[in-house]
Amino acid sequence: MKIFIDTAKLGEIKEANSWGIVDGVTTNPSLIKKAVDSLEKKVSMENYIASICKEVDGPVSLEVKSQGAKEMIEEAKKLYNMFNHVNNNVVIKIPVNTAMQDDQENYEGIKAIKNLEEREIPTNATLVMSPNQAMLAAKAGAKYVSPFLGRIDDYIRVKMGLKPGRDFDKVSYFDEKLLEKIKHEKTKEIIREEIKEDIGRIYVNERLKAFSTDVKSGVDVVRKIKKIFENYKFETKIIAASIRNARQVMEVAETGADIATIPFDVIAQMIKHYKTQEGMKNFTKDIIPEYEVLFKK
Ligand code: E4P
Repeated sequence: MKIFIDTAKLGEIKEANSWGIVDGVTTNPSLIKKAVDSLEKKVSMENYIASICKEVDGPVSLEVKSQGAKEMIEEAKKLYNMFNHVNNNVVIKIPVNTAMQDDQENYEGIKAIKNLEEREIPTNATLVMSPNQAMLAAKAGAKYVSPFLGRIDDYIRVKMGLKPGRDFDKVSYFDEKLLEKIKHEKTKEIIREEIKEDIGRIYVNERLKAFSTDVKSGVDVVRKIKKIFENYKFETKIIAASIRNARQVMEVAETGADIATIPFDVIAQMIKHYKTQEGMKNFTKDIIPEYEVLFKK
């Protein structure tokens, strides 16, 4: 599985890239904001993004800002012309659907993806929350689709009646098997033990019944997209995005996702292990003088 780094912080990109583990970068307007907020001095956005493109020899996703297809196509062309010459690695992120409410047009993202595909500008369909959205984006010619694992899990948890902040936080692991357990009356008591007072409400919640036929978790969305893409031989690559913890990385790697885009702190979680630390302490403690001498020569 390829690893992209999910950040616009140049320091993080450079650091992880120096370890030889970075195959690409994904940014979005929120990540750009975080990166700029963390800087001590004002920077030229153009120079800053050019530095990101230069740093990594792999795809760098840059997102458009409008909601209409026509505007997004113009923005995509601008970004592409401005930065692709730096390292020939720009990919344009287009939201799979830009509607912010029910009465808005739902097809602008797909239209823009199709148009950019014809212009040979590679796209990354972002904000993908379902296998169907991924399938449509792939049909329209997206080079990448980015299912948002963490946000899908958040959505399912909230539908289950769990409260962010009280029952889970941004980095909490979501156990998709929980939904299966909830379906069976017999296990109701066991789960009641696990998540206490919420389960009664969850179990009788009609909304959950409707939702449980959909997807089990963010990882499950990746699994389903993978299956669909294999069934129909789509060449579109899957980028597992909105990764919140190391366990999710392992699970998407098991699904066969092409790429995971991972925040810097989650990469740090991936490399840490209590037993590795313990092993290090013991090896260091056991170094005998005779062995030490070898390093003094
Ligand atoms: C990357 O392509 C996405 O924009 C990013 O992973 C979103 O992550 P978040 O849901 O943690 O904001």
